[in-house]
Amino acid sequence: MRFFIDTANLDQIKEAHDLGILDGVTTNPSLMAKEGIKGQDAIMQHYRDICAIVDGPVSAEVISTDFEGMVAEGKKLAAIHDNIVVKIPMIKDGIKAIKWFTDNGIQTNCTLVFSAGQAILAAKAGATMVSPFIGRIDDGSWDGVKLIEQIVNIYNAQGFMTEVLAASIRSPLHIVRCAEVGADICTCPLSSITGLLKHPLTDIGLAQFMADAKNL
Ligand code: G3P
Repeated sequence: MRFFIDTANLDQIKEAHDLGILDGVTTNPSLMAKEGIKGQDAIMQHYRDICAIVDGPVSAEVISTDFEGMVAEGKKLAAIHDNIVVKIPMIKDGIKAIKWFTDNGIQTNCTLVFSAGQAILAAKAGATMVSPFIGRIDDGSWDGVKLIEQIVNIYNAQGFMTEVLAASIRSPLHIVRCAEVGADICTCPLSSITGLLKHPLTDIGLAQFMADAKNL
């Protein structure tokens, strides 16, 4: 399973990259706004800055919601860097846009996916990745990881090449469960990635080793 970080914060992207386990980045308009990035030039420059840190797919989301707007915007985003993946919302015009990008050799990430039916449509249109939002599904008392498992099984049964990118990750346990059910990629906040490091027995064991090392 590949690890992406779900943020537009350059310091956090650098920190995850320095761990040596980072495979890519996902952003969205909310994450970009959180960093105070305003205006077209600043947005483009920010994606360039991210691509300079991470040598892997960087999802950049369109803001338009009509076919022509998404294609025009996506073309500009894709021209920034070879690693840019155009992120398109799961709506009718979005499916048409994903098909257009597929036919024109541009990678896409279909976002805001909450059902297996939506994931099938995205795969039919040729999306490179599909992003089910598992944390938001859990928020409604459904089981987000079960949806990941269902989509993985459908894609395997049907031979779809679209990768399952588990998004809206809220905890290290989400990452572990997504790995268990065969997600291709998890996109996570830095806290969930570093949370995987934690175990009290590791801390206790290391303290003992360090204490005993004084007697060497
Ligand atoms: O990748 C999608 C993600 O940014 C949404 O996460 O925590 O806002 O549900 P969240």
